[in-house]
Formats: sequence, C-alpha cells, structure tokens
Amino acid sequence: MSAGLVAALREVLGDRGLVADGDDLEPYLRDWTGTVVGTALAVARPATTDEVAEVVRLCAAEGVAVVPQGGHTGLNGGATPRHDGPSVVLSLTRMRRIRDVDPVSDTVTVEAGVVLADLQEAAQGVGRLFPVSLGSEGSATVGGIVSTNAGGTAVLRYGMTRDLVLGLEVVLPDGRVWHGLRALRKDNTGYDLTQLFVGAEGTLGVVTAAVLRLLPATPRRATALVALPDVGSAVALLGRLREHAAESLTTWELVGRQALDLVLAHVPGARDPFAQARPWYGLVELAGVDQGALDAQLEGALGAAVEEGLVADAVVATGSAQRAALWVLREGVSEAQRVEGPSVKHDVTLPITGLADAVAALAPRLDAVLPGVRLVTYGHVGDGNLHHNLTAPVGQEDALRAAAPELTAAVYDEVIARGGSISAEHGLGRTKVGAHQQRTSEVELDLMRAVKSAIDPAGLMNPGAVLPG
Ligand code: MLT
Ligand code: ZN
Repeated sequence: MSAGLVAALREVLGDRGLVADGDDLEPYLRDWTGTVVGTALAVARPATTDEVAEVVRLCAAEGVAVVPQGGHTGLNGGATPRHDGPSVVLSLTRMRRIRDVDPVSDTVTVEAGVVLADLQEAAQGVGRLFPVSLGSEGSATVGGIVSTNAGGTAVLRYGMTRDLVLGLEVVLPDGRVWHGLRALRKDNTGYDLTQLFVGAEGTLGVVTAAVLRLLPATPRRATALVALPDVGSAVALLGRLREHAAESLTTWELVGRQALDLVLAHVPGARDPFAQARPWYGLVELAGVDQGALDAQLEGALGAAVEEGLVADAVVATGSAQRAALWVLREGVSEAQRVEGPSVKHDVTLPITGLADAVAALAPRLDAVLPGVRLVTYGHVGDGNLHHNLTAPVGQEDALRAAAPELTAAVYDEVIARGGSISAEHGLGRTKVGAHQQRTSEVELDLMRAVKSAIDPAGLMNPGAVLPG
C-alpha cells in the first residue's frame, strides 16, 4: 500500500516535490525542541493548491493520515508526525507566493509557505506593517502562524494572529477546496468558518493561503530595559506605561534572572547592561511615527515608575544597535535554554491581576518536586502569558525527565485554579492533548469533537493533535 501511494504522489509532484529517503526525511520528523520524533511514509512538497488537494485525495483514498507542516518551529509537536500509524507529512514550504499586496484596502494575500519575515518585509515595501513578531520569524510560515494562532511580542497592541486573518483558502479532508479568500472587514454571513480553521493546527484541513490585515507603519521606536524588584512591579509598570504611552505601547516583556543568565552564558555578544544583578527585567517598546513624542512618553512612564519604586534601574536604547542588543536579552532565551540542555516547557496565561501571586506560589511547589530545579520564567507579561520553562539542576537531566509529569501537573493545577489557560500561544500540538483533556469540561470537549467529526469524519487530518487520535 505505501509503495503504491508514494509512487502515486511522485507522479503528481515530480521528484522535486517528494522526499522519501531516510536521511532526507529526518528534519521533517523531529521537532525544534528535539523531543518529539515521529515516522512518515514520505514528505509531500506541493507547489500549488491543486497539488495539495491531489495529495490529500490520494492519502484519503488509502486511509493515510496527513500532517501539515510549515517552518517546523512549533513547540508542542503539532506539525511532527506520530508513530502509531502511517502518515504523509505535507510540507507547504514551496508555496511561497505573495499573491497580492493592496495598500488601499490594507490587505495582503499570501500562500501558506511564505516566511513571516518575508511577509513583514513585503508590508514594509508598501509603507505598511504586518505586526506579528516572533523569535522564529525567520523560519515560521504563514500557514503555521495561522494554524497555531501564533502570539509573540506585539500581541499587547495588535492581538493574536487570529485578529489579523480576514479570509482563508483551505483544502478540506476530502480534497475539496474552500475558496474563502475574502478581503472584507465586515462579513456577517453565518458561522465564522475562517476563524474555525485558525488555531486548528491542521486538524480540520490544510490552510494553503490567507488574506491578512496590514496596519499603518510605525517606523520610530523607543526601547528600554528595566530592572525590577518583583513581578508585582512589572504589572504595576504596565499601568504606568499605558497611562503615559496609550496606544504606542507595543511590547512589555519579562525576563527572569535565570533566563538572563542563560542568554549571557550562551548567546555570543550578549551583555548585561546593569552593574548590579536583579531578580527581574522588563523590555518595553513603544512604536509610532513621532520620535520626540515616543521618547517623551517613555521618559514620563519610567520617571513615574522610578519615583514609585517600581523600577530599580533602567537603560534606554539610543540607537538601532543598542536596541538590537537589548532585544537579544529577551529573544535569545529559548535558544540559550536549548543549548543549556533539556527543558520542560510551559506556555500559560493568567488574568494579569493574579500574575505576581501565581509566580510566587509556583517556585516553592516546583522546588518541592525537584529540589534545585531552575525555573526559567520569561515572556509576555503584558498579556498575562508567561513561559515557566524548567531546566535541570546542573548534571540532573535524568531527574528532570523523571519529574517532568509531576512538575507540569504542578504548573497546570496552579494555573487552572487561578482561572488561567495551559496553552496561551503555542497551541496544544501533540504534547498537551492529555493535559487539556484532563482539565477541560465535557461540554467543551463535546463541542470540539463534534466540529472535528463533522469536517474530518475519517480522522485523517493531523490525528493526535488538538484531540486524541
Ligand atoms: C518565547 O516567547 O520566546 C517562546 O514562545 C517561548 C518558548 O520558547 O518556550
Ligand atoms: Zn512566547
């Protein structure tokens, strides 16, 4: 069966569009973290929507699962194939066309394989902004950010990817194409099908193209790194920043000391701008069109915060090189932690009012499970979304692996008890499905299963992601 399917796929896609050999398959089968590894009969690399539809039809006819994949930078294994059953990975990376850029209606129509950084550049080329901004933007693709409803470092101002999607083109599980590429701000025609596919992680169909909103460009920036005594000060400072900067406030990110230490240890050229070590740091950025106004807003907010004792120290970037040096201290954390060794990742949100108490409660709980575990907390404090990523005490990687389920349960139980979510911006992928099932009401799960079985009755679209396979 599999040899016949591979031969049929080769006939549709040609040699360039198919990867079927052991070594060449490897990068498609192992996720960025290196911990989720699967198997696949082949990787299909179609170049057009019609080819995607043909691949899906051929797989459906053979009862073979389809696992859509973009830049493969996801953190929960949602685009990495499973072990338990035959799959074809459907890589969208050859669908790289920017079909249309329209600065009058402020929209862009792009194919799924367009890399986020290229989309940002295309928007810039017409004096506009595509505001989704992520550490992985040099590899992450449109299909991936739409399918995971990616967040990032500018959500505070612009919302999640979902807020920027106007229309989609989707290949359905039976191979039909839904042509939903509408570029309309207003469209109240029944169920919101577009939003159903956003964040569905390829379990309802394959997103092949999207119409996305563009925003006015904000080429001027004011950026600062502040040293903070505690998380409560970070939350209070968000208030001051909003009062002084209003809509200009784009980024308010937190970096814990353990996270900063990893960046300083592993990212070449990274440097601590402060003379004294502090427990927490915040990266703040305002963006707009008037440099003088942004500088005054930042100065006003920081001045008020220093007076109140919220900020212990601050450095304001004086040029683009210094700005980049400050951003490295935030965006370098994930990679630095990966270099340090295995970690147990968490991506949780809480109502921001309770954030400081939750962080304070978490540290002793985790230490009780694995004494000395390094709690690398950082992330998007402005959205209440923090990453509590755990690194082993030096030399105790096996103990970390053994304690991982208990550590994760401690984080999730604390978060759920405080009204939060166990997946803020990374999706459920494969690695969080069990935890989600345990902590979600039957009513909610029933609705999710009903949607899945209505659209993908054979269960062949990315089985095992979002819901149990
Ligand atoms: C980030 O914000 O840097 C990532 O979403 C966190 C991670 O890699 O766990
Ligand atoms: Zn994040």
